[in-house]
Amino acid sequence: SGLITLDPGYKNSGSCKSGITFLDGELGILRYRGYAIEDLAEKSNFLEVSYLIIFGELPTAAQLHQFEEDIRKYTLVNEEMKNIIDGFPKTAHPMGVLSALTSALTAFNPKSVNVDNSAEMYEAVCKTMGKFLVIATWTYRKSMGFPLNYYDNTKGYVENFMRLMFELPTGPYAANPVVINALDKLFILHADHEQNCSTSTVRMVGSSHAGLFASISAGVSALWGPLHGGANQAVLEMLEEIYKTGGDAEKYLAKAKDKNDPFRLMGFGHRVYKNFDPRAKIIKKAADEVLGTLGVQDPILDIAKKLEAAALEDDYFKSRNLYPNVDFYSGIIYRALGIPTDMFTVMFAIGRLPGWIAQWKEMRENKEPIGRPRQVYVGHPLREFKR
Ligand code: CMC
Repeated sequence: SGLITLDPGYKNSGSCKSGITFLDGELGILRYRGYAIEDLAEKSNFLEVSYLIIFGELPTAAQLHQFEEDIRKYTLVNEEMKNIIDGFPKTAHPMGVLSALTSALTAFNPKSVNVDNSAEMYEAVCKTMGKFLVIATWTYRKSMGFPLNYYDNTKGYVENFMRLMFELPTGPYAANPVVINALDKLFILHADHEQNCSTSTVRMVGSSHAGLFASISAGVSALWGPLHGGANQAVLEMLEEIYKTGGDAEKYLAKAKDKNDPFRLMGFGHRVYKNFDPRAKIIKKAADEVLGTLGVQDPILDIAKKLEAAALEDDYFKSRNLYPNVDFYSGIIYRALGIPTDMFTVMFAIGRLPGWIAQWKEMRENKEPIGRPRQVYVGHPLREFKR
C-alpha cells in the first residue's frame, strides 16, 4: 500500500519511546539513565549499573545489598538442565547452547512468565540475573568436559563468574582484583545500547507476552551473529590470522575495501556512531592497562593498533565514518584474562543481560502493542491456479 514507509534495517525508524539509554552517534555520547558511560565505567560496578538500568535509579547501599542477595537466591539451576547440557556435542558453539538453555529455563520456571505486579517482575529479574550467569559458564565447562560448578554465596557476582568458569576440582580459583575490575568494566560497557538488534529482538518477542527467559533466549541468538556481538570473536580470529600470516595489516585493509570481497574489517563501523564509539575509547585504554598490570605481552594488541592507525588514515574508512567499535579491543582483554575465543560473545551476553531485562520490563510496563511491522509486497499479482 502507498501508505507504508519502507525502512529496511530500521535505519531511520524509532520502534519505541525509552528512558533507559541515551546515545548521540554524532557526538559519541552514551549514557545510562542520564549517567555518562565514562563515569559509570570508572566509578561503579556491574551490579550497581544493572540495578540502575533495570530500575531507573542508582541503588542505596541497602538496596544494592538486597539485590545481590535476591539474585543469589536464584543461582541454583534445576538439576535436569544438566541432562539437556549433556545432550550437546562438546564442539557445540557456546552461544547456541546458551540460547537453548535460556529457553529451557522457562520449562523449569513456568511461573516466571507472570509479571502482573512489581513483586513478580522483581522475581523474574533476579531469577534471570542469577540463572543466566551460571548457565553461561556451564556452556564453557561442557565444552571442556569439566564438572559443572555452583555459585559461591560468599563471593560477588563478577568474581563468581570467574570461579564458575575456572575453578577446577583440583583446586580453588584465586581471584585477581585486576581481572575482576577489568571484567566489571567490560560488563558495564556492554550493559545496554538502546534498540540494537538483540535488544529489539528481546522487545519484539516479549511484545507477544512471551516470558522473559524466552525473550532473552531470542536476544542471545540475535547477538550471536558476526555483524552484532559475534564480531568480538571474529575480530580476534581476524587479528590472529593477520599475525600468523606475517602481520600485513594493509593487505586486510585492501580486502575490506574491495567491493568484490565479502570481507569486512571486523570491529569497525557502527550503525549509529559516526565519529567514534565512546566504549571503544575506554576499552582501548583498559586493554593497555590490563595487559600492562598482568604483565601480558600480546603481539595481537600491536597488530590491532597498527590496523586501527592504518584504517583511520585511509580514505575509504574516513569517508564512510568507520571507526573501531566496542568489539575491536574487548577480545584482547578477554584473551589476557584467559577467556577462550568462542566464549567472547557469551561475555557480551552476560554484560548485555541487564539491558535486555530493562528494555523488556519497560516494554511490558509501558503496555506496548505487539510488534508487527508491515511490508511492501513485491511478489506476483494474482495468478490462476492450474496444473
Ligand atoms: N569494513 C569494510 N567496510 C565497511 C565496514 C567494515 N567493517 N562497515 C561498513 N562498511 C562500509 C559498507 O560496505 C558500506 O560501504 P558502501 O557505502 O560503499 O556500500 C558503508 O561502509 C556503510 O555500511 P553499512 O553496512 O551500510 O552500515 P550499517 O550501519 O548497515 O552496518 C555494521 C553497521 C556494524 C553492521 C557494519 O559497520 C559492519 O558490518 N561492521 C563489522 C562488524 C562489526 O564490527 N560489528 C559490531 C558492531 S558494534 C557492537 C555490536 O553491535 O555488537
